[in-house]
Amino acid sequence: MTTDFHRIKRLPPYVFEQVNRIKAAARNAGADIIDLGMGNPDLAAPKHVIDKLVETAGKPRTDRYSASKGIGGLRRAQANYYGRRFGVKLNPDTQVIATLGSKEGFANMAQAITAPGDVVLVPNPSYPIHAFGFLMAGGVIRSVPAEPNEDMIRALERSVVHSIPKPIAVVTCYPANPTAYTASLDFYKDLVAFAKKHELILLSDLAYAEVYFDENDPPPSMLQVNGAMDVAVEFTSLSKTFSMAGWRVGFAVGNERLLAALARVKSYLDYGAFTPVQVAAAAALNGPDDCIREMREVYRKRRDALVDSFSRAGWDFPAPNASMFAWVKIPEPFREMGSLEFSKILVEKASVAVAPGIGFGEHGDEYVRIALVENEQRIRQAARNVRRFLETAEKTLHNVVPLAARG
Ligand SMILES: Cc1ncc(COP(=O)(O)O)c(C=O)c1O
Repeated sequence: MTTDFHRIKRLPPYVFEQVNRIKAAARNAGADIIDLGMGNPDLAAPKHVIDKLVETAGKPRTDRYSASKGIGGLRRAQANYYGRRFGVKLNPDTQVIATLGSKEGFANMAQAITAPGDVVLVPNPSYPIHAFGFLMAGGVIRSVPAEPNEDMIRALERSVVHSIPKPIAVVTCYPANPTAYTASLDFYKDLVAFAKKHELILLSDLAYAEVYFDENDPPPSMLQVNGAMDVAVEFTSLSKTFSMAGWRVGFAVGNERLLAALARVKSYLDYGAFTPVQVAAAAALNGPDDCIREMREVYRKRRDALVDSFSRAGWDFPAPNASMFAWVKIPEPFREMGSLEFSKILVEKASVAVAPGIGFGEHGDEYVRIALVENEQRIRQAARNVRRFLETAEKTLHNVVPLAARG
């Protein structure tokens, strides 16, 4: 049997796996690894949501297949959330689809709208599914800068002029994973105007809508822009907002024609999440929302602990305004070796795991992503380890075995 499968060949080796392997080996050898690598929330889901799940499980008809696009109560809860939070009015029947996490929604939207060879403009670095969702669907990626400013709009303009065939869509993600960049409503206005001018689809990943640290400056939705509904679909998630990553509940909202295409694909693939999960997810969205503020406070304190303790350890970087990540330049003496090799050394010599920037695209290779997924005490411990590591940087660099020789 051939193992040369067309789709699999289009997927590069998963670089995070290489750091994971070194992490597992170090743990097996007894090391206490402080894992700031994966963006996997360590907080608990809100109690009232878990109670609702328990209360609903076992009720008549809840064990059956559910609705692929989500039960009505859940879609209405999401429409109400958009109304309250962004002032955006959504029709829950045609402008909201519940997904099995936002990642599934995004990947299946890519399947739904991509013909072989279609060009899609994706920021680099970006969350992997933003590019690979389209690659798996047979599309072609053209990278654009990730920082949401006028330069990005200019780069998008150039890409449209120089791409043959003309691109079909642009992906955005603000607050961003991995860079923590945030976008203003003015940027979205420019982007929507640009998309309309060139007849492009906009796909906005808003998974970090509620993870921000300035209470006076919550991240906007792209759909707040007048007319955005004509061209855009936006993805949100309960994974980070309610620390429910394992529950697999997210949403796609926005343009009806695009959502109908997604619903069509999904109707062949899934029967919706377990109904009690959907009922509990609706309870999460319907409030109370103190749990969201508490979540933010936990991440804000961790962010402050990270920036403060790492700075004192000799590794300075700006504090992220949103998301659960810091996107951090590799310290000078180690930058040249690249982010994968640096991340491996950090596990081996400092017992700290981070995500190598190269895993998010080639323009990420001078950076690592540090996730706020351990408590403040562990973050400060990581900083102490890093301090010792940096103090012996000369010696470490001298002893480093080149990547090529490591296999
Ligand atoms: C930008 C971004 N989008 C989507 C996801 C996945 O979210 P979900 O759990 O809703 O699939 C993540 C998870 O880390 C993410 O960082």
